[in-house]
Amino acid sequence: MRILLKNTSNLGDVEITDGIITSIGEDRNECEEEIDCTDQIIWPGLIDSHVHFRTPGQEYKEDWITGSEAALAGGITSVVDMPNNLEPILKNSQLDEKREIIDKQTKIEFKLALGVTDDSMADFQQAEENADAIKLFMGASTGNMCVSKSVNLEKIFRNTTKPLMIHAEDESIIRKNEQSFKEEQEPEVHSAIRGREAAIVAVSQALSLAKEFNREIYLCHVSTKEEIELVKEARAAGIIVHVEVTPHHLFLNKNAYQELGNYVKVNPPLRLEADNDALWDALKNGVISVVGSDHAPHTAEEKERNYWEAPAGIPGIELLFPLLLTAVNEGKISLNDVKRCCIENPAKIFGFNKKIEVGKSADIVVFDPVKEWVIKKHDLKTKCGWTPFEEYRMQGKVTFTYKHIKDN
Ligand code: DOR
Ligand code: ZN
Repeated sequence: MRILLKNTSNLGDVEITDGIITSIGEDRNECEEEIDCTDQIIWPGLIDSHVHFRTPGQEYKEDWITGSEAALAGGITSVVDMPNNLEPILKNSQLDEKREIIDKQTKIEFKLALGVTDDSMADFQQAEENADAIKLFMGASTGNMCVSKSVNLEKIFRNTTKPLMIHAEDESIIRKNEQSFKEEQEPEVHSAIRGREAAIVAVSQALSLAKEFNREIYLCHVSTKEEIELVKEARAAGIIVHVEVTPHHLFLNKNAYQELGNYVKVNPPLRLEADNDALWDALKNGVISVVGSDHAPHTAEEKERNYWEAPAGIPGIELLFPLLLTAVNEGKISLNDVKRCCIENPAKIFGFNKKIEVGKSADIVVFDPVKEWVIKKHDLKTKCGWTPFEEYRMQGKVTFTYKHIKDN
């Protein structure tokens, strides 16, 4: 089967034969499938470094068929999946089993992060080698996987050789706030319970451990301007720290609770407009290393429950790239910022090969950088079927994504 991407604006004609790129920039014709790519850009498929597809155990929220389709619809061909499944992924056998199930369903490339808790340190030491990354929760989130003992934190920082992805929110601050606010029912209490100081304290602690053990770290979903400042200081002191931001922390803030209630309950929570501004600045100025969606699907029924029962998390994989393209059109960031944070940096950090080359398996997205469209939830591929960005007017759209998965 030959596919011809005719006249892409940056590479010219790109020909794919049986999943392999067979020519770039040469005038080709007569293909079974020809896609007119005039005025469209071709890039390697994007990487989403932070997703929670729900296999195994909670496939009613998402599985790898719907998750892959959502990824491809959003121009993403590679993901790093988190370990907080119904039964957390803490040991070797669980990693192997999870990989085996996903292999049968996936249409995209994946890497798996291993989880760790205070009670799983022995398993962790055995399984670490088999993992693509480590996910460390310094405060428990969905799934209750938490490392709070310093002796364990030190062991992890000292010994890990894999990308160390940290969910940095301080457990004791959150627990204390939960007590103080336990009579509250309004969703916006979430931003007070998981207040900004919980993130700031945990990020400071993660950075000092990184310094002490000379360990490169990856901070997931920074959400406040103070965290950005801490990262800048740490880098000036020679610490290697990768910083991720999510679309929801860039585009949304506490004002969203009024309309969306628990649908925007997420950990870490939404912050202030001033934080949105600081995050956009940090993205534009190169402080942010990665934009990852933290795709965390929950059903509408679950999100309709009362504040204390509704799970935290926002789906995002499908709209991450179009939202960023829209920001490019609004002049907030450049197309290069998107490439850096969604392809180049995550490829380096997690070891994905993202080149468009003759002889290589096709892994590409074609997008129209200026096309206007409106988000409608019924067009979404994610199983959860909703988005906080419903009815957003977008500029920049994915036309075609192709990922050749060997052995499939
Ligand atoms: O809001 C969140 N949801 N934050 C996390 O850390 C986990 C995620 C989930 O798995 O639902
Ligand atoms: Zn997450």
